Amino acid sequence: MTQHNGRLSWGMIGGGEGSQIGPAHRLGAGLDGLFDFTAGALDHRPAEGRDYGQRLGLSSDRAYGNWQEMLEGERNRSDRVDLVTVATPNATHFEITKAFLQAGFHVLCEKPMTMTVEQGEDIVKTARDAGSICAVNYGYSGYSLVRHMRAMVARGDLGNIRLVKAEFSHGHHADAADADNPRVRWRYDPAQAGVSAQFADCGIHALHMASFVIGQEATRLSADTVSCIASRELEDDAMVNLRFDGGAVGRLWTSSVAIGRQHGLTLQVFGEKGGLRWSQEQPNQLFWMPLGGRLEVIERGEANLSPEADRTTRVTIGHAEGMPLAFANIYKDLAEAISALKAGRDMDPAANLFPRAEDGLRSMAAVFAVAESGRADGAWVDARPPMFR
Ligand SMILES: NC(=O)c1ccc[n+]([C@@H]2O[C@H](COP(=O)([O-])OP(=O)(O)OC[C@H]3O[C@@H](n4cnc5c(N)ncnc54)[C@H](O)[C@@H]3O)[C@@H](O)[C@H]2O)c1
Repeated sequence: MTQHNGRLSWGMIGGGEGSQIGPAHRLGAGLDGLFDFTAGALDHRPAEGRDYGQRLGLSSDRAYGNWQEMLEGERNRSDRVDLVTVATPNATHFEITKAFLQAGFHVLCEKPMTMTVEQGEDIVKTARDAGSICAVNYGYSGYSLVRHMRAMVARGDLGNIRLVKAEFSHGHHADAADADNPRVRWRYDPAQAGVSAQFADCGIHALHMASFVIGQEATRLSADTVSCIASRELEDDAMVNLRFDGGAVGRLWTSSVAIGRQHGLTLQVFGEKGGLRWSQEQPNQLFWMPLGGRLEVIERGEANLSPEADRTTRVTIGHAEGMPLAFANIYKDLAEAISALKAGRDMDPAANLFPRAEDGLRSMAAVFAVAESGRADGAWVDARPPMFR
């Protein structure tokens, strides 16, 4: 099946012309020459999706009008796609991802993977039953220095982790006069967005990154959720306190009304032997303070940082690597995982770091826990999905 000169075959659903996240996926998947873009159902408007797909180089028979057509068209091909990315709006992820997994495709699903915890458990079980890979695009975990932070924690440079502080706070929904704009309003409407707005959109990235870097999962949380713009039913700001299964304490702030902040994803980790600070807007530098030492700047691209960092950097030190290259690292991991499965061999452990359906499920449990705790004035609640209790 599907290996063209060692390359894998890739398809995409959503990510049509003008979409926010489509270009970053195409850049990421194409960067290392590991995937050929061969099929897509790119737009909710069939004609526009077919047209754009062909302009991007898809053949006319594989530029599909919708995902059902793509599933039928691909499933019986001898050269069918090896990996399908689902980059459609949130409420469609579950149905599309489940259908492709059941048909034996590997899937990279955008976050949030599902709208409910039950759907998340269903996806985990479906992927396991099908023997398929289901990844979730916590793409920021692909940054080389994020991988390096994880490696530093795992090899004990920080000692036991006492505290992790994560933020994902921006100011792009701060204009009260624009709150009724339909492109903004749906995000704060429970009928369309579910039980949470800002935490489900951005907070889960911060939580995933905290867990990923410290190698611990959230067990309990207490949340203060507020709508700073009073007409909003769902929260535009949340402060969440967490406890992790390895003993770490977590502090997480997420906001969409933090005027002056652009992207705003940052992580700080404090252990017994030192502290780390990294920010998505300055991703090529990592700040490291060993206990009793001096503040050091670790540059992406330095030689021999860690196997995890070394395999996820491409450009010479001093030149900035940005977000599509972080996505490229998720694709690079997936190419290795899929190739290893096909060849019946073990995969490179340094590539075995891509976020999975289990992470998507944990996020969804945290989303519901934040909403529940927020409604109960910050009561501490279980943050784990029933499947992992
Ligand atoms: N991982 C990240 O960092 C990150 C960043 C931004 C967005 N996202 C996620 O990516 C997803 C898409 O977000 P976006 O901002 O690109 O949205 P968008 O509205 O900009 O684009 C959505 C695209 O999907 C297409 N589409 C909609 N329904 C479809 C369907 N049923 N079949 C095929 N195509 C369909 C639309 O035509 C459009 O091209 C969301 O789930 C969002 O949460 C993730």
